[in-house]
Amino acid sequence: MTATLDESTVRPATDSAVRLSGVHKTFGQGERGVTALAGVDLDVAPGEFVCLLGASGCGKTTLLNLVAGLEKPTAGEIERNSSRPAVMFQEAALMPWLTAAANVELPLRLAGISRSERKNRTIELLDLVRLSGVGGKRPHELSGGMRQRVALARALASALHTSDGSLPSLLLMDEPFSALDAITRDVLQAELVRVWRSTGAAAVFVTHDVREAVRLGQRVVLLSSRPGRVVQEWQVADLSPADEAETVTVINQRLREVISSHAAA
Ligand SMILES: Nc1ncnc2c1ncn2[C@@H]1O[C@H](COP(=O)(O)OP(=O)(O)O)[C@@H](O)[C@H]1O
Ligand SMILES: [Mg+2]
Repeated sequence: MTATLDESTVRPATDSAVRLSGVHKTFGQGERGVTALAGVDLDVAPGEFVCLLGASGCGKTTLLNLVAGLEKPTAGEIERNSSRPAVMFQEAALMPWLTAAANVELPLRLAGISRSERKNRTIELLDLVRLSGVGGKRPHELSGGMRQRVALARALASALHTSDGSLPSLLLMDEPFSALDAITRDVLQAELVRVWRSTGAAAVFVTHDVREAVRLGQRVVLLSSRPGRVVQEWQVADLSPADEAETVTVINQRLREVISSHAAA
């Protein structure tokens, strides 16, 4: 469910959707401490779609949790222009006893939004993720792809919690499609791009899949192996199919170098 955000660690930004400056994160202390991130600088413009790419364990989830305000950085600064980003994880983690519609409605209920308004917003959100027909079904009656659509609608709902109900200006997604089969993933990638365009939100999308990053993002940011920091970036908006394939090859090569240099160290 939606965790409580600790707003004290994230300062309001004015001209960026998200800005990280010299962000470090160490878990634990002394010899047993694990440094997950070591000096991350990243600036995401309003409305921009950035894919964060890196090997398993390089600190991608940690970075997203910091931006969401779920964890505090050990050092450095995080700014964000949206008070309530929409957050979506790899597992949908829906309430199994609630219908799809009730799962989407839950954050609105917790926010104390009136019943009639909740109903209207839930209908709009289910429509946005193309689930209008299945709001009455429970999670076990839905496919994995449909459950992730419900999770997306719920993430948007939890970010809508404030008064005017305007769509969120920041989507934070942590490998939301990695447990899905390839065909379902293709469909949901296209749907996500559609939702992103219709909300005008900035998106920070974490993945370890180079192809997914290049297909979805306007910019791909590669993190080094742990401790993570930004090693390289590529502008990947509006590539031709040939350039897209070429870029995937180049980034894959760079990712392999990053992983092997780490293994050798
Ligand atoms: N709460 C935690 N306590 C201790 N170590 C953690 C915690 N969360 C993450 N880590 C460690 O930080 C590193 C980065 O983890 P994570 O951000 O989950 O990587 P990724 O999402 O890129 O796979 C890993 O070595 C992981 O074991
Ligand atoms: Mg992760």
